[in-house]
Amino acid sequence: MIGETKFSKLRELIADSSEKDLIWMNGYLAGLVSAKTHEEPVQKSTSIQKLTIVFGTDTGNSKKIATSFAQRLKKNGVQVKLQGLDQYRLSDLIKEEYFLGVIATHGDGEPPAAAKKFYEYIHANSLSLTNLKYAVLALGDTAYPLFCKAGEDVDLRLKTLGATQLLPVEKCDTDFEETANAWLENVLKTFSSTSTDTRTIQTPSKKTSGKKTYEGKILTNVNLNGRGSAKQTHHIELSADGVNYEPGDSLGVVPHNSVDAVDSILSTVGINRNKKFNYRNEEYSLHDLLRKKLNITYLPERVVNKYATIVQQEIPSIRMDLLNLVKIYPVKDEAQFEEVVDILDQITPRLYSIASSLAAHENEVHLTVVKNCFTVNNEVLQGLCSHYLANLPADASFDFYIHKNSEFKLPAAEKDIIMIGPGTGIAPFRAFIEERNATGASGRNWLFYGDQHFESDFLYQTEIQNYLQLGSLTHVDVAFSRDQPEKIYVQHKILKQGHELFSWLESGAHVYVCGAKSPMSDDVEQALIQVIEKFGNKNSEQALTYLNQLKEEGRYQKDVY
Ligand SMILES: Cc1cc2nc3c(=O)[nH]c(=O)nc-3n(C[C@H](O)[C@H](O)[C@H](O)COP(=O)(O)OP(=O)(O)OC[C@H]3O[C@@H](n4cnc5c(N)ncnc54)[C@H](O)[C@@H]3O)c2cc1C
Ligand SMILES: Cc1cc2nc3c(=O)[nH]c(=O)nc-3n(C[C@H](O)[C@H](O)[C@H](O)COP(=O)(O)O)c2cc1C
Repeated sequence: MIGETKFSKLRELIADSSEKDLIWMNGYLAGLVSAKTHEEPVQKSTSIQKLTIVFGTDTGNSKKIATSFAQRLKKNGVQVKLQGLDQYRLSDLIKEEYFLGVIATHGDGEPPAAAKKFYEYIHANSLSLTNLKYAVLALGDTAYPLFCKAGEDVDLRLKTLGATQLLPVEKCDTDFEETANAWLENVLKTFSSTSTDTRTIQTPSKKTSGKKTYEGKILTNVNLNGRGSAKQTHHIELSADGVNYEPGDSLGVVPHNSVDAVDSILSTVGINRNKKFNYRNEEYSLHDLLRKKLNITYLPERVVNKYATIVQQEIPSIRMDLLNLVKIYPVKDEAQFEEVVDILDQITPRLYSIASSLAAHENEVHLTVVKNCFTVNNEVLQGLCSHYLANLPADASFDFYIHKNSEFKLPAAEKDIIMIGPGTGIAPFRAFIEERNATGASGRNWLFYGDQHFESDFLYQTEIQNYLQLGSLTHVDVAFSRDQPEKIYVQHKILKQGHELFSWLESGAHVYVCGAKSPMSDDVEQALIQVIEKFGNKNSEQALTYLNQLKEEGRYQKDVY
């Protein structure tokens, strides 16, 4: 409560403000309160002197939490070793006494790439960890079927190896801040009880309220590829009131299944499409449930195995669409199909790099989405979400959320940047360039772009040429792989420009890579190493150390998929 005088001033301010002002004030106050909460020093004095905090991250959330924990503990006089699991010396684990792990889940219930070595090491070795006292904070997203699985696996494995669990594993949804802070308080309680008394304290975990979603309305949806291209890449512009993001963030969306696929399943099973189902406390018709909520394509093996148990038939343990399952291995009756509905996962969200900057397009989000097509048994099939988005007409709406990526961010305005983004990898760089152009950043900007053909696949060609003329882009190097007999890719252009590129690195430039993880980002990394070797006069080991140093300084950032 606040006093009457303050309340009356507040009412006056509100009456005087536009809706936009109110949204801004709301965000400002929330930020102020959250910053205060974070700055708050740890109240309790802990009885431990030393501990290790590790994080396994892909998009930076776990690192952010682990770093804030470390800062709070250090303020309290605890000696903290903070490390990413990719840097962690595995042989140190058996020597640790107090150990906190903040671990995200990626892929389909897998640890982030940076935590894989650690994850495999603890699972492959029969270590004796009887001296270790640990707690795991697992980051995830309830929209995925294997919620926080990697963190849970690490927790269970450490326990199995004889370590003492200080607290049960805490699972955080995407709005993790409150849960994470409450978890740290609980960890501290266990520390302050006594350092030798390591009973597990069971505290009720604070459940979170869900992620912030926005409604996006399609303003524009156009295919950027020209006639004769093998691809269809859609530039999609959305309007979304109050949307807030930074260049480098992605948009997350849960696609709908195709009406055709749902209708075919229902008619094959012969069940009433309007039958009501209760799903996560909301009522849906069976048709809507299958269309908007449940995954019916490319079911994981674990779901196919459960299906086999329900229908009591032998089914090979391979991924399959629900339509094929009900056609080849029919359900006996409606009741059996209802059991099948219960075992289906929810549709997982897909991420798309944001291709716009709010500084250039207030209340808008732009995307660059390539239609994903693949062939199975000579039949061309379509990726679910890319087709869902590419087929949305103007004025159609859908819900989305922002996936922050603090590991893919622009540096200070005066720093130079080198952006390597073939194909849809161009998307975040369009946002970077827009941002730097709109804010008058003084750093130089160098873009490496590539695709199959100059004529049909040069995405955003006119914009890029305009930015070059304006000076917002300093250099552009393009590689069109199929315009000549030999294949030319961005990595070849990097090698060709090695001398200049190395001089940019030496003067402090930041390097960004976005697009296909394999083979593009690996080939680009090899090319960078070769450039550093050749123009930095280093052997391969020294070149690798140079690149790792760039990574540690946050000057080599990748967002690859
Ligand atoms: C951080 C991040 C940023 C991204 N940014 C972009 C971006 O800017 N632009 C962009 O276009 N994409 C981007 N992506 C990729 C995007 O998220 C999706 O992965 C992509 O659009 C494919 O999704 P989909 O639903 O269309 O395909 P899905 O339906 O998920 O299919 C994906 C693959 O699964 C397999 N598969 C699916 N169904 C079957 C089946 N029935 N039988 C056999 N195999 C099958 C195929 O190999 C297929 O290619 C990004 C990803 C990440 C993680
Ligand atoms: C491609 C992708 C796959 C994901 N898969 C899962 C998953 O299987 N289970 C889960 O709980 N969360 C999953 N998540 C959600 C992340 O764990 C969540 O966003 C987390 O906050 C990321 O933490 P980080 O920034 O430290 O990597 C996934 C996120 C992405 C981008």
